Amino acid sequence: MKRSWLVGVMAALVAGLFLIPNLWAVDAPKGDIMLKAPAGVKAKKAPVKFSHTGHAAFDCTKCHHTWDGKAAIKKCTDAGCHDIYKAKEKQKKDIKYYYKAYHDMCMKGCHTDLKKAGKKTGPTACNGCHPKK
Ligand code: HEC
Ligand code: HEC
Repeated sequence: MKRSWLVGVMAALVAGLFLIPNLWAVDAPKGDIMLKAPAGVKAKKAPVKFSHTGHAAFDCTKCHHTWDGKAAIKKCTDAGCHDIYKAKEKQKKDIKYYYKAYHDMCMKGCHTDLKKAGKKTGPTACNGCHPKK
């Protein structure tokens, strides 16, 4: 009697460990996402096809760098994040400028570094991400 009670408690604990975090977890989008210029910006380049699944080997927080692992994931260009959409000259080097954030993180901060390290990676040339219209 006593033993089965203990087993029950243990099983509930183990289930809790695995199930509860899963209820909080946010599911990653499957397949491709189109990354477009924010509303109000007249895009000069074609939107960028980003394979979310193709980046599954990386930690979520490498890209979603403010995510606490529980709350809804914000968009890069949400208010309070990289929300300068039309930069004045002196804002062009501000990481809040969405253009700089994307290029510094995806291109300079990742693809170029991996390429330099001789590793397989995504595009580093403009047309690799923004196909010719
Ligand atoms: C690793 C992928 C990647 C590479 C390489 C890249 N970009 Fe981008 N670029 C993006 C993303 C993502 C955005 C944000 C989404 C958007 O606006 O299309 C963006 C936005 C832009 C924008 C602002 C939106 C627009 O269409 O006017 C311009 C201009 C731009 N890139 C030009 C360039 C140029 C020029 C190069 C080469 C020097 C380049 N990009 C290389 C991913 C890339
Ligand atoms: C290589 C970078 C990268 C990694 C790693 C990554 N993501 Fe993303 N994710 C993105 C980008 C870029 C977007 C599009 C954001 C936007 O539209 O501003 C996105 C969008 C999302 C969205 C949709 C948000 C929305 O409201 O549109 C969710 C949910 C998400 N990711 C979850 C995850 C989870 C969970 C993981 C880890 C298993 C993960 N991501 C790993 C880059 C990444």
